[in-house]
Amino acid sequence: MLTDSFDRRFSYLRLSVTEVCNFRCDYCLPDGTDCGPDARAQDLTLDEIRRLVNAFARLGMRKVRITGGEPSLRKDLTEIIRLCKQTPGIETVAMTTNGYRLTKDIDAWHAAGLDALNVSIDSLDHAKFEMITGHNKLQEILKGLERAAELGIPNIKVNSVLMKHYNDDALDDFLDFVKTRPITLRMIELMQTGDNVEFFDRHHLSGDRVIERMRAQGWQERLRGRDSGPAREFWHPDYAGGIGMIMPYSKDFCATCNRLRVSSQGQLFLCLFVDEHQSLRHLLQSDDPEPVMAFLREAIKGKDFSHHLHEQNPGSTRQLAMIGG
Ligand code: GTP
Ligand code: 5AD
Ligand code: SF4
Repeated sequence: MLTDSFDRRFSYLRLSVTEVCNFRCDYCLPDGTDCGPDARAQDLTLDEIRRLVNAFARLGMRKVRITGGEPSLRKDLTEIIRLCKQTPGIETVAMTTNGYRLTKDIDAWHAAGLDALNVSIDSLDHAKFEMITGHNKLQEILKGLERAAELGIPNIKVNSVLMKHYNDDALDDFLDFVKTRPITLRMIELMQTGDNVEFFDRHHLSGDRVIERMRAQGWQERLRGRDSGPAREFWHPDYAGGIGMIMPYSKDFCATCNRLRVSSQGQLFLCLFVDEHQSLRHLLQSDDPEPVMAFLREAIKGKDFSHHLHEQNPGSTRQLAMIGG
């Protein structure tokens, strides 16, 4: 098992498979952001992904989350899901998507072995959804979500980034949404990046106020296990679904960190908010997992205890889009 100098164990790989995205969410990739002309051409190949996931699995990774950019823009996404699922040691294959291809592809993803699905929906109000993402696809995305539930995908989440003026009044809508559906709502505090400083200042909201309101309505917090990851989770006896809060600005957020990230071009990021990264790609040219494993055992020693968001040291937007949040 990969363990860092703070005795945190890493069982969860977040693998970005492309940095290209077809949406332009205000907080992430504002209009006009260019992902680079040859961004796609440099993505890891299926063989490289197979070798990478195999090496991580041998080191104790049990979960892979496929992220982007928008992962469904890769034509071989179903194959990627299948090969992750078939890797010995990998128990859970998860994916985060903007939902654009959900209705069309969810059956194939499910058949390939997808166990967990997160869909970004920042507002259930059609006009606001379009304002945030630049697309009016909400109806279709919701249809895809229903289909995912029908197929019995065990773990379905809706991601919503908390934003003043956009969705600070949306809690009741979201609570209604999870009342009868066994879906977890993930509310994520807006994070400051190199490119969204002004947007962040205008729209950032602390999750504490949401938690206060939830508690007043009878929501209770689950105890966090040592390896559970950074989200705080809440449940309510009258609700089929749950709520998870991602609050990176709060104390001890990183204490339960269980994840490492690899970009679509095979760069290892030890944290979402570090600029430094190391390329693994040259080690993915042969089927021998040992060199990758040796590299990772050494690299993990350099992981910091926490991000440095408190020190006014935002990461770069490109990085967040590139490594899938
Ligand atoms: P789980 O796999 O169940 O933990 O889901 P998740 O909520 O981490 O999944 P998802 O990829 O959908 O993450 C939602 C968003 O939460 C990401 O896009 C990030 O913006 C944020 N997030 C997730 N993990 C971390 C983390 O380790 N650190 C920080 N700062 N943000 C995170
Ligand atoms: N702050 C918070 N979450 C972000 N995401 C991307 N950029 C940011 C940001 N600046 C997350 C959202 C979305 C996922 C794909 O990336 O949670 O659902
Ligand atoms: Fe882990 Fe970095 Fe996320 Fe903290 S911000 S939980 S250290 S990945």
